[in-house]
Amino acid sequence: MEQTGTDSIVAHIRALKEERDAVILAHNYQIPGVQDIADFVGDSLELSRVAAAQRVPVIVFCGVDFMAETAAILSPKKTVLLPAGDACCPMAEMITAGEVRLLRNRFPDAAVVCYVNTTADVKAESDICCTSANAVNVVESLDARQILFIPDRNLGRYVARFTKKEVLPWEGFCIVHDRFTAKEVTEARRMHPGAEVLVHPECRPEVIDLADHVFSTSGIIRHVGTGPAREYVIGTEVGILHRIHKLYPDRAAYPLARHAVCVNMKKTTLSTVLSSLERMEPRIQVDTAIAARARTAIERMLAV
Ligand code: 13P
Ligand code: SF4
Repeated sequence: MEQTGTDSIVAHIRALKEERDAVILAHNYQIPGVQDIADFVGDSLELSRVAAAQRVPVIVFCGVDFMAETAAILSPKKTVLLPAGDACCPMAEMITAGEVRLLRNRFPDAAVVCYVNTTADVKAESDICCTSANAVNVVESLDARQILFIPDRNLGRYVARFTKKEVLPWEGFCIVHDRFTAKEVTEARRMHPGAEVLVHPECRPEVIDLADHVFSTSGIIRHVGTGPAREYVIGTEVGILHRIHKLYPDRAAYPLARHAVCVNMKKTTLSTVLSSLERMEPRIQVDTAIAARARTAIERMLAV
């Protein structure tokens, strides 16, 4: 049987992966073809745990820069490749290490909790990291009464609903999730009256108020498999629908809005994965001193 172009790229990736002794990790927002060749697909927390546990020398990280940086910080001796070298998270650029230092001066008794969607420099200035899957537990694990939550204002406000601590969120946001509106939720409920609405905590408070449940990306996927409804409206990036449809073909899942596309997550293609394995580039490297301090914040999170 004749091989298609895609089959041939996939075969090359598989062969090179063996040769290089590499593992491929992909975030739930990656394009279907990339999710399908990955060894692990998951949310930020799952992928950072998987990256930390890897014994192979090469990690190909199909996601955005902060995720690959986290893997490189946790595994300094490994080669971490980010196939789309320019895939960034705009939210991570919304706070700098200098701004965190200024915050610390202003609120000397507060603990700094930083979402993993941050640069290594910012992690290095923080007490502990969190992801959307563990943010409430991380905040509750701290002794401090006052929490500087950076950089996502929406996740910060969401966490504030579940704790007696004073949460002071920074004014960052996700350019994809912050665009969902309450009107879109109302319209989706009208179109799909039997569906549950599941949203990500990066959504605005008024969207969260109207949802049935709020989860990380993998939490959303799990709930579609175990929840009581047959139909779900999904308020996060549309790439997640591939995994939902694949795992639960008997359940219907609709995007809350078709505009929810993270262009940076779509920069990784089968061709960039192949090329990164061929060239062993683009490689993510983090300054040793910064990485050591950032690792403390990430490892504290993994211990919670
Ligand atoms: P998760 O950790 O829930 O996968 O979210 C990552 C992210 O970037 C959401 O926009
Ligand atoms: Fe960053 Fe938003 Fe894209 Fe997630 S969806 S990587 S938070 S821009």
